[in-house]
Amino acid sequence: MIRENSSKTGLDISEGHIPLDLPQIFGNHSDFVLEIGFGDGDFLIEMTERHTEKNFLGIEIKTKRFNIAVKKSKNTQSENIKFLHMNANIAVEEIFPEDVFSLVYINFPDPWPKDKHHKHRIINTDFLAKLSKIMKKDGVLELASDHKDYIEHSFDVFNKVSFFKSQYPAPGYLQNIPNRPYTKYEKEFRAEGKEIFYLMFANNK
Ligand SMILES: C[S@@+](CC[C@H](N)C(=O)[O-])C[C@H]1O[C@@H](n2cnc3c(N)ncnc32)[C@H](O)[C@@H]1O
Repeated sequence: MIRENSSKTGLDISEGHIPLDLPQIFGNHSDFVLEIGFGDGDFLIEMTERHTEKNFLGIEIKTKRFNIAVKKSKNTQSENIKFLHMNANIAVEEIFPEDVFSLVYINFPDPWPKDKHHKHRIINTDFLAKLSKIMKKDGVLELASDHKDYIEHSFDVFNKVSFFKSQYPAPGYLQNIPNRPYTKYEKEFRAEGKEIFYLMFANNK
């Protein structure tokens, strides 16, 4: 049995069957959208309110941020949002069935700028292979960052795997997407005058 914890949006999968039955959890078979590292949840909450026809699942590793997002979501009327407190590296490998997500957002992942820390970056070939499996064929992955080096590094990693195809013309990124909600970090970076970069890939598996 899957339980909901402190609120109806916080998902407790400790007693659930793996792989998760997302149609059962959300109560419908509409599109499933995943956000990895949702921070305080602003982006996901805004998306659920704009797209009531889709189901949104967020994963966040930090307890404090997960709790903040769950609290913020108490004000939303949306029934189509769930937050999961978990390491996404483990989640993508272990808890989802294949071919389930039509859209995946990774917004402002930690850039780990020092060379010796690059190994911690969430975008790596192993992670992309696991993500591709749980995404639908032709599903879309969007990555946003203020960190040009991280964007270029990620672009190279995506190009190393055969299954993700870039959706943007050269140089492969956009710097503005009209009507895309800003995340908390994005608001801060934009207020500081930083450039923002968006990548988009289709899952061509
Ligand atoms: C720079 S913050 C960006 C937060 C939010 N996406 C935003 O744009 O405001 C990166 C987020 O990813 C989360 N994170 C890092 N590694 C993670 C992992 N392996 N699984 C889940 N969340 C992770 C961090 O805890 C943090 O909240």
